[in-house]
Amino acid sequence: MLRHLIDPTDLTVEETEAIVALAERIIAHREQYREACKGRKLATLFYEPSTRTRLSFTSAMLELGGQVIGFSDAASSSVSKGETVADTVRVIRCFADIIAMRHFKEGAPLVASQYAGIPVINAGDGSHAHPTQTLTDLLTVKREKGRFDHLTIGFCGDLKFGRTVHSLIKALSRYAGIRVILISPEELRLPDYMLQEMQANSQLTFREVRTMEEVMPELDILYMTRVQKERFLDEEEFDRVKNSFVLDAAKLTRAKPDMVILHPLPRVNEIAREVDNDPRAAYFRQVENGKFVRMALILTLLEWADGNRPFDRTPVFNEPYLVNELKCANRRCIAATEDVDQLFRRGEDGICRCAYCETKAPSDCR
Ligand code: CP
Repeated sequence: MLRHLIDPTDLTVEETEAIVALAERIIAHREQYREACKGRKLATLFYEPSTRTRLSFTSAMLELGGQVIGFSDAASSSVSKGETVADTVRVIRCFADIIAMRHFKEGAPLVASQYAGIPVINAGDGSHAHPTQTLTDLLTVKREKGRFDHLTIGFCGDLKFGRTVHSLIKALSRYAGIRVILISPEELRLPDYMLQEMQANSQLTFREVRTMEEVMPELDILYMTRVQKERFLDEEEFDRVKNSFVLDAAKLTRAKPDMVILHPLPRVNEIAREVDNDPRAAYFRQVENGKFVRMALILTLLEWADGNRPFDRTPVFNEPYLVNELKCANRRCIAATEDVDQLFRRGEDGICRCAYCETKAPSDCR
């Protein structure tokens, strides 16, 4: 059956763990997978800059024996002439078997999945989600800590715009004994929809603090993030918070000897260079895991899509959304700039939210 990865929870816990386990098998037996995607093509549609995600997808497909097409700069494609996401992917499906899309608009990969007729992978949409970074993080947690449950994790830095944080919290909140500690300045707190989801989750505990020093001894994992200049609409606000947190060797003296330091990268100044040689610094091992887990994901989605037939008509919704007359108020949402169906869904907390970006609906959507 045709499946996409738009949000980390599109995969069940069992499916997520199966992809992580497949990545571990690929690491152990790389030669067995050299021709696994022979004759298949991946299209990487990157409307936003990327080093790790785009090149690890490319490297993953090449290592599976497949080929890669795509663009890394939307200005060099017909997007610059005003082509919509929906039309772009209807074209790309004629040339490729699977799509990895990064877009500055939240929800763009969800729109792509409604029109493509081939598997679509969200490679990061605005400040919203980054599910393949989550798979990367989970494989790293598995290899470094040996488990996904009963962990205390500090998320530090830009929790407002940090899509990798949003996605990893969602994925880990399905496990028992997870304690989340949110370390950020007031201006960069986790979005309300994430806080509400966490409050509604009885098996997860969380608290917010303002310094990493006060929680360092408790942490099993410290997940550092960059303050993302490109997401700020107000430069003065960026200047106020840009140097909020810097992890250095002195701060690490209070950390557990087996604490793991993760970072999705790129970093700017939030981890001092002196930390790189500390055995707890796992962020470059994390990058390498990203390639293997993307190999596992491509294999899995292509296998699920085998025998898939082209859509007779579009859009095709992969969930029973509420189609509504309401309009999402988030300026960063794809629904604000492209002619898409206004879709909403009710979360587990009973609140009605935009299906593309998860912003609370302007009023209830019955
Ligand atoms: N972690 C991550 O998404 O890095 P890139 O922006 O370089 O792809």
